[in-house]
Amino acid sequence: MKKPNPIVEIAATGRYLPDNVVTNDDLAQRMDTSDEWIFSRTGIRERRIAPDDMCAADMGAGAARQAMERSGVEPGEVDILILSTATPDRWLPSTACDVQALLGCSNAVAFDLMAACSGFIYGLSMAEGFLAAGRGEVALVVSTEKMSAIVDWEDRATCVLFGDGAGAAVVRPSNGSGRGILSSHLQSDGNLGNLLYRPSGGAVHPMSQEVLDDRSYLVRMQGREIFKNAVRSMAEACDIALQSAGLTAEDVDILVPHQANIRIIEATAKYAGIPLEKVYVNVDRYGNMSSATVPVALDEVVEKGLIGPGSNVLIVAFGAGLTWGATVLRW
Ligand code: ACO
Repeated sequence: MKKPNPIVEIAATGRYLPDNVVTNDDLAQRMDTSDEWIFSRTGIRERRIAPDDMCAADMGAGAARQAMERSGVEPGEVDILILSTATPDRWLPSTACDVQALLGCSNAVAFDLMAACSGFIYGLSMAEGFLAAGRGEVALVVSTEKMSAIVDWEDRATCVLFGDGAGAAVVRPSNGSGRGILSSHLQSDGNLGNLLYRPSGGAVHPMSQEVLDDRSYLVRMQGREIFKNAVRSMAEACDIALQSAGLTAEDVDILVPHQANIRIIEATAKYAGIPLEKVYVNVDRYGNMSSATVPVALDEVVEKGLIGPGSNVLIVAFGAGLTWGATVLRW
């Protein structure tokens, strides 16, 4: 197959993580759980939890500033700001517009993208399409999540899995050297929306005393069903994206998967045919930060020098919706 010529590339990445570390042992002081239970089932040791006065926009702006600085992009040069979040700060306006104001990106079009944990991968594709259509030169993709604000701290089966944080990437037209997005595969299945959702608090069941009392405005999840779907969908997305890029699993230098759970990561890598030594894992330190997991992990991979010019990087994610997707990048 002819190798695709990238249209856009990631010029730089950035991340922002709140300082406050909450360990499994800390959680065990507050609820009936243990480090042993959490770590053995998920690989998570600790997560970051943002303070009350830090919102998704603050974290997103922190990650975006770092990516902009590293790519030498000034706020006024950003043409489009795509922000993925499952934890918007307010119902109106979008968190993207709040981040735009914080950064001073006054020439950008800014909007939120709702694709749960797959948000960064969806966002990259939206940025690619916008730039490919010639509508601008600089795209900023920001993924920011204050999961601690929407999990039910009385539901030990879900609250221990999540954490807060943000990641970002500056996307620009490729310079012709072959660096950039080689392929992407995005998919969703709305029939399985109720496997991971917030039943109330939206227009269907607006906020009421009853909703507050039964806590149905918080995240509900069918863990085992999510597990099965996540592995199958991510492995398939990896295969399709690699095929479109004219590559095989052997060509992958590093797999940067959504960090929900070490067992999901290991099973996905196995089915996708990628050895574990080539899989980047930080779920032990941050838990599941929804759409922020992939850009935060990618930023760490770059910072640690685990990839260099010419590396083939495969990113993959899965989340509520259901949504999933994979992207192949030539670094
Ligand atoms: N501490 C101690 N015990 C717990 C805890 C906890 N935090 N949570 C649940 N338990 C108990 C349950 O009450 C149950 O007890 P019982 O047998 O007496 O009823 C027992 O542990 C087993 O519960 P299960 O829910 O069956 O546990 P399971 O082995 O399925 O593991 C888990 C749960 C870790 C959530 C698993 O299903 C999983 O990893 N699912 C994937 C979900 C996920 O990662 N979602 C992230 C969002 S989607 C995404 O980003 C991909």
